Amino acid sequence: MDLKEAIYKRQSIRNYDKSPLDAETLNELRRFIDNAKVLNPNIEWSYDIVGPEKFRMLQRFKSPHCLLIFSESKENYLQNIGFIFQQADLYLQSRGIGSCWIGAGSPKNYENPNPEQDFVIMMIFGKPHGEIYRELSQFERKIICEISDERDSRLMPARYAPSAANTQTWYFTHDDGGSYNLYRNRKRLRLNKKMEAWNQIDMGIALAHMYVANPDTFEFRLDKPHEELKNKVFEGSFTI
Ligand SMILES: Cc1cc2nc3c(=O)[nH]c(=O)nc-3n(C[C@H](O)[C@H](O)[C@H](O)COP(=O)(O)O)c2cc1C
Repeated sequence: MDLKEAIYKRQSIRNYDKSPLDAETLNELRRFIDNAKVLNPNIEWSYDIVGPEKFRMLQRFKSPHCLLIFSESKENYLQNIGFIFQQADLYLQSRGIGSCWIGAGSPKNYENPNPEQDFVIMMIFGKPHGEIYRELSQFERKIICEISDERDSRLMPARYAPSAANTQTWYFTHDDGGSYNLYRNRKRLRLNKKMEAWNQIDMGIALAHMYVANPDTFEFRLDKPHEELKNKVFEGSFTI
């Protein structure tokens, strides 16, 4: 299965076989991440693959591996991390390896080797215990009219993207020039700072799906002139 097909099959996996993946599989993952497309080349980021002794999470489920993800905290770094590591999520799932973004987690007994970069988020992964894929009908997602100003089937890859607590706070508009604008719905009361950060990661995740579905034509711009929409934050524009 290729990455594009995985968009329509993947699901967050929370039940893992305890046995670790072999060293070659982990090296292939490293090679994939090191060559993934980035959204903003001005931002330094890094990651480490660690075992269960080096991370903790709020929930009870266990996984044999975890990607700890670090970045400089500048510009659109949350989007950038979502964009890069959603490609890793699709890569893992396309190879039959389960994965799940984990916001409610952190490194444990781990010394950050690079003080210029902060821990941002993590992703657990490993051999799934049970079925890894699901059918299209099993995705719980908003209908296209709720996330776009036009009923546009080209936005389907973004519609199926995963998001923190499945909040799907993305909204797309169409420009006369043929480009798309991406906005993030903002709650008027900003009660949860963590959720706001995760939702910015979600924006990068949705953009990653648009890139993977249109790898030869996808282009992103953060600074394009755009219309301001009420209770929405402009997150950039793209062509496909
Ligand atoms: C930024 C982010 C943070 C997440 N944090 C958690 C988490 O802490 N625990 C968890 O079980 N799932 C977490 N998830 C997974 C989402 O709950 C899941 O992607 C969403 O419900 C959609 O389901 P799906 O991935 O199976 O399509 C997170 C997802 C994202 C994108």
